[in-house]
Amino acid sequence: MGRPVDVLGFVLVFCLSLHGIQGADVWTIEGDSPILPCGITYGPEVNLFWTLQPENIIILLKRPDGTVEVLEKQWEGRVEFLDGKRLRIRNVSRQDDSSAVQGEYRCSQGSRAGERSHLHVRRMY
Ligand SMILES: *[C@@H]1O[C@H](CO)[C@@H](O)[C@H](O)[C@H]1NC(C)=O
Repeated sequence: MGRPVDVLGFVLVFCLSLHGIQGADVWTIEGDSPILPCGITYGPEVNLFWTLQPENIIILLKRPDGTVEVLEKQWEGRVEFLDGKRLRIRNVSRQDDSSAVQGEYRCSQGSRAGERSHLHVRRMY
């Protein structure tokens, strides 16, 4: 049995987790270059990752020495960091839509993680 103060701490963390799961919706059109928010304070001393959740597939990473690497062929030559941490996807396609990749985009550093972005790519008629 925890003391009341522990219970409060647990409830707070639980609520923050729920908020993280809820995430943000980003709407865009094929060929556009959407920018996904990161939501954590970037610290250059550890790796910064952009991943697909929940499977934790690493798309893009930046190392403490500043080198940037794209780990998934689908995004090669099309993803980059903006303002050090946000993710820009150039020439977006339906294949990048959250329903197509079966995941949501999220930045993280160690145990710190931003909210998930659900990407909606509309077809251009
Ligand atoms: C954008 O991507 C499409 C395929 O999704 C490709 O056919 C087209 O050449 C690309 N455009 C640019 C400017 O890279």
